[in-house]
Amino acid sequence: MGFSLQPLFLAIISLLMISALTRSSEGAGIAVYWGQNGNEGSLEGACRSGNYDYVNIAFLVSFGSGQTPELNLAGHCIPSPCTFLSSEIEVCQSLGIKVFLSLGGSSPGQGRGQILASPEDARDVAAYLWNNYLGGQSDSRPLGAAVLDGIDFDIEYGSNLYWDVLAEALFNYSTAERKVYLSAAPQCPIPDGYLDTAIQTGFFDYVWVQFYNNAPCQYTSGDPSKLFASWDQWASYTGVNTLFLGLPAAEAAAPSGGYIPPEVLVEQILPVVQSYPKYGGVMLWSRYYDQNYSTAIRPYVNGDPLTCTTKSVKKSHAVA
Ligand SMILES: *[C@@H]1O[C@H](CO)[C@@H](O)[C@H](O)[C@H]1NC(C)=O
Ligand SMILES: *[C@@H]1O[C@H](CO)[C@@H](O)[C@H](O)[C@H]1NC(C)=O
Repeated sequence: MGFSLQPLFLAIISLLMISALTRSSEGAGIAVYWGQNGNEGSLEGACRSGNYDYVNIAFLVSFGSGQTPELNLAGHCIPSPCTFLSSEIEVCQSLGIKVFLSLGGSSPGQGRGQILASPEDARDVAAYLWNNYLGGQSDSRPLGAAVLDGIDFDIEYGSNLYWDVLAEALFNYSTAERKVYLSAAPQCPIPDGYLDTAIQTGFFDYVWVQFYNNAPCQYTSGDPSKLFASWDQWASYTGVNTLFLGLPAAEAAAPSGGYIPPEVLVEQILPVVQSYPKYGGVMLWSRYYDQNYSTAIRPYVNGDPLTCTTKSVKKSHAVA
């Protein structure tokens, strides 16, 4: 009897594993920023690593208030055109990865940064983004014909006005056929200096909070208490739909701290943040710094209680 049941038992275990994997791919994920270091490898390479579910192309550094919008992808395509990225974006999307254009960053580039002069200006910027990066039309699309999945707001410089209007105007471009996804990357201290009003509108599908370079709310060696307290606040903050733990992918990625060694993240941090229903995954700054980090944490990012041990999941993945 023991012998005859064994195949059945194995079959059931395999099914459980497969269903855990399926749910894992539909559940929490990893977001990464790509674009600010020419030595980080290609966009397509990042997507083919299999480690990411969202890629933010960083950054559109200046726009608004009549400025000529400036895309800065560092060594990837300055000063040459970036339209070659179009086919790479489409490869990423074919792998199920959502690709966003990230607005902002911590430098204004050649311009005056990210300044929306008025609600009307915010609507004009939305129209510009729609026509040049999303589903609209323009004969000078900086990333070519590929239609990005959405827009990320990483506003750290410029003005704090009218980001709520921009979010709403972009949200309004969604159609039944194609949604325009929106994400925001605020600093962890609440309220964020630039994005607070916009976040509270609830238009953002994903909020990946930067728990680094922010002493009041980041992990410090051996002490997760400030991080946990901040996460708890964010998890019930007005307008936050899906919350990501934004982290440096290496110690060097965050000069003012917040790095969490992968084993600490997996053993002490993820089990706590995953107990919140709004947990959506982990955001990493950045692809350049992510040598081994996403590989190390990926099996644990979806904290599914039904998942067997990670080793078993890996095995069944290989079998499947
Ligand atoms: C978005 O659409 C709604 C409904 O049509 C409209 O009332 C609102 O003014 C639009 N928002 C923006 C910022 O264009
Ligand atoms: C990252 O992985 C590479 C190759 O697997 C290895 O040589 C290197 O030591 C690892 N680095 C760290 C910081 O673990």
